[in-house]
Amino acid sequence: MNQLPQRVCGSVGRSLRQIHRVSAATMPIKVGDKLPAVDVHEGDPHSVVNTAELFKGKRGILFGVPGAFTPACTKSHLPSYIEKCEELKKKGIEIIACMAVNDAFVMSAWGKDQKADGKVRMLADPSGTFTRALGLELDKEALIAALGNKRCQRFVMLLENGVVKELKVEPDGTGINCSLASHALTLI
Ligand code: BEZ
Repeated sequence: MNQLPQRVCGSVGRSLRQIHRVSAATMPIKVGDKLPAVDVHEGDPHSVVNTAELFKGKRGILFGVPGAFTPACTKSHLPSYIEKCEELKKKGIEIIACMAVNDAFVMSAWGKDQKADGKVRMLADPSGTFTRALGLELDKEALIAALGNKRCQRFVMLLENGVVKELKVEPDGTGINCSLASHALTLI
């Protein structure tokens, strides 16, 4: 039988796994693209929400933050959407959702702390799968050292029936300007 020695097979297997893991970064999502369909969590890890289903047939806002409970996200970013929720709804926005690479318990606790209930849906992307599908990973060494893993760039998008109509990503991924609710209002 024409079999490779076990040692060689093992080494081939390992290198293939390595190649698979180091896959190329996804191109960032852009205006005109469909929102990727990825399962995220809301409330607890057993409560699964599919991102495409969530925005299907709706006009919505999705914004991403580097981390729950981090200073700027807590003092400015999330509160801006809670404060402008009614104004956004008056302009036809049916759903406002916040996402971060955090677990569902953390996102839920952050939402409760910020009184987001009924205003902003708190979506957890614990493994970063949705963030990678968006092509919006925040891959900065200093940030990984501070927060422990790759997070999501700060962004906001306007969605109509699951299609991106407007998209603003903060130029450095963490700054807080074009992704605030006051700016989102000007996109609608
Ligand atoms: C923030 O304050 O939102 C923040 C802090 C550290 C890293 C990223 C964001």
